[in-house]
Amino acid sequence: MSTDAELQQTIADMIDAERGILAADESTGTMTKRLEAVGVESTEENRRWYRSMLLSTPELGKYICGVIFYEETLGQRDDRGTLLSELAASQGVIPGIKVDQGKGPLPGAPGDMITYGLDGLGDRLARYKSQGARFAKWREVYPISDHNPTLLGLTANAEMLARYAAVCQDMGIVPIVEPEVLIDGSHSMDRAAEVNEQVWHAVFHALHRHGVALEHMILKPSMVTPGKEAGKASPDDVADRTLQVLRRTVPAAVPSINFLSGGQTPEEATANLNALNSRRDRTPWQLSMSFGRALQEPAMSAWAGNPQRREQAQQAFLKRARLNSLARRGAYSDDQEMTA
Ligand code: 13P
Repeated sequence: MSTDAELQQTIADMIDAERGILAADESTGTMTKRLEAVGVESTEENRRWYRSMLLSTPELGKYICGVIFYEETLGQRDDRGTLLSELAASQGVIPGIKVDQGKGPLPGAPGDMITYGLDGLGDRLARYKSQGARFAKWREVYPISDHNPTLLGLTANAEMLARYAAVCQDMGIVPIVEPEVLIDGSHSMDRAAEVNEQVWHAVFHALHRHGVALEHMILKPSMVTPGKEAGKASPDDVADRTLQVLRRTVPAAVPSINFLSGGQTPEEATANLNALNSRRDRTPWQLSMSFGRALQEPAMSAWAGNPQRREQAQQAFLKRARLNSLARRGAYSDDQEMTA
């Protein structure tokens, strides 16, 4: 198969009107924080057990079309010896892989960040592809302050995302392009909208310069919300502002926009996704999710390291997946939280 045909096939397999992506690609450092928060020691075995429990949830493929792994997970097997990537694929869930290697300060732009990992990316992608990965993810992070992101931060981060996406497409791997504008701080909704507009504009300008085929990528943005110390906006406000800015900046050729949850509670993220999809007549794209915490938090708390609670954890996980699938059709309401 040509790389173009591979990209087309992966997009076709990953994008439909009801499903979304599970982000299970927490680096070991992040996963350690998440596990310790529920009283579990972060050993390789606990991480393997927990992720195989998620992926073996019955009926997962009805609601989830793809899973993003961290490098460690690609080589892991479930208790029966099946590779976790094969376990996912057997459920109709396409395996993908986070390929950025973390972030640090961007020299010359105090307060801005930059992500590492372009060196040797082609070789790593070839290896991940041979291990079953069909798509990849790369995250750039943008803190908001009165001065950030700077012009340098906007252009340097966009350049990284575009270079990564171009390498992926050369290898027949669909890139998820993730510019995460952080929710941390006390900025207003207006300021969040202003920053997201600058970020998305810079990202698509760079993708164009690098010849990235927009038809063969997925955008993973933040929703436009006020900073978490500034109070909450209603789902209708979040959806209206997010779509206003997306419509100004994201070409119609992009097939799907899969939002991150970024620190929203599971219920908030689902309600916001539902409000976004209630306005589908205003959008050319699929509006879906690639949630990490908002899909996993209830399952992780239900498990809390106790293998006897495997089924309760899977039910908690499936409930979030199912409610987000309803949100994809604009058919979610918060009373379903009690009955689902
Ligand atoms: P959250 O949904 O928890 O923000 O995670 C998504 C993700 O992949 C962050 O990079």
